Amino acid sequence: MQHVTQDLSGKHILLGLTGGIACYKSAELCRLFIKAGATVQVVMTEAAEQFITPVTMQALSGRPVYGSQWDAREPNAMPHINLSREADAIVLAPASADFIARLVQGRSDELLSLLCLARPADRVPLLLAPAMNREMWSHPATQRNLMQVAADGAHVLGVGSGWQACGETGDGRMLEPAQLLDDVTAFFQPKLLAGQHVLVTAGPTFEALDPIRGITNHSSGKMGFSIARAARDAGAEVTLVAGPVHLPTPRGVARIDVTSAAEMLDATLMAAPRATVFIATAAVADWRPAAHSAHKIKKDGSGQPPVLHFVENTDILLTVAQSARAQSGKLFCVGFAAESENLVEHAKAKRERKGIPLLVGNIGPLTFGQDDNALLLVDANGLRELPRAPKLALARELVTEIAARLPGWSAR
Ligand code: C5P
Repeated sequence: MQHVTQDLSGKHILLGLTGGIACYKSAELCRLFIKAGATVQVVMTEAAEQFITPVTMQALSGRPVYGSQWDAREPNAMPHINLSREADAIVLAPASADFIARLVQGRSDELLSLLCLARPADRVPLLLAPAMNREMWSHPATQRNLMQVAADGAHVLGVGSGWQACGETGDGRMLEPAQLLDDVTAFFQPKLLAGQHVLVTAGPTFEALDPIRGITNHSSGKMGFSIARAARDAGAEVTLVAGPVHLPTPRGVARIDVTSAAEMLDATLMAAPRATVFIATAAVADWRPAAHSAHKIKKDGSGQPPVLHFVENTDILLTVAQSARAQSGKLFCVGFAAESENLVEHAKAKRERKGIPLLVGNIGPLTFGQDDNALLLVDANGLRELPRAPKLALARELVTEIAARLPGWSAR
């Protein structure tokens, strides 16, 4: 089973390297682009070749690297035209301070700047991953140049902060290859949820019995985190209320960590008044211990097990779905149902019971902790199956389904 989402499948990326020590990360970035399904053509400046060899980049990309506008391999002697026209995007990583300044001036005395200038700007986007020392980064000249390249149509990606090769600490590091892959992938996603604010609950809850033990479940949070990422990539502002899971926060997503169902309810109700879409993927505990023991519940030697009492947790989805905001059509609510059998009947019944426009069913034991899943969408018009696929691919499909239902949607 293929777990890597081939998000860049069919895309041809021109990866441009300019002079900076971050070039060593571009080798990994090239690999990640290819693993995500892209083809990659590397172009290097003379300065970049001081930091990493064209041989390395050729071996990783599987294509000869270009470095000169006088390259005789192109029959028409115009590599700047040919290379820029066959690309779906030009990604400059690292983009040095000097190279950005050259872009601002429209310089074109070497191949990479020449092909950036020659690119058909309306269909070949230019993405920049700046990398430089913190003083160079914060210099007014650099900041002025960054604003100008953005105004000229380039898409400037962020920079990292932290230890720099020069020994100083601050802003200006190139983003890590995995972060750049996420940003470039997001760039290509259609902005179906632009202007929307999506609120997602994800993961399990943990209901403490005493300071040591508690009740939880096998939810990994992967589906909810994938949905948060897909919604963000689709242009939404995203708030993710996460139970106790060990997953990295998707880029650009505001995360609120909670432990218990009561905390998840509070965090959700705080965020809901600004949300336009609520997706409840969390596996919330139905019950919590009626009392929380301040100290560990010990064996007393009698052989008698302790008697535990439980109270029911508030249904977060039901509470939000019954709010005035949802009822008046300003908040589109999506529920999840994890079942172990009779998925269709249970999912239909659950949608009715929760009073929501869309419910997504899945088989619990086949999804918890897995990287892939299969979904069953239930709405007022019937059923739709999304066959087994990586969770991120399913999340993107779900986002498309939700976006299609938003215009004109109003509650009963
Ligand atoms: O009723 P059941 O727990 O099966 O419903 C599952 C759906 O309801 C999921 O979307 C889940 O996130 C949500 N839910 C909730 N709060 C609860 C229980 C379930 O939001 N206390």
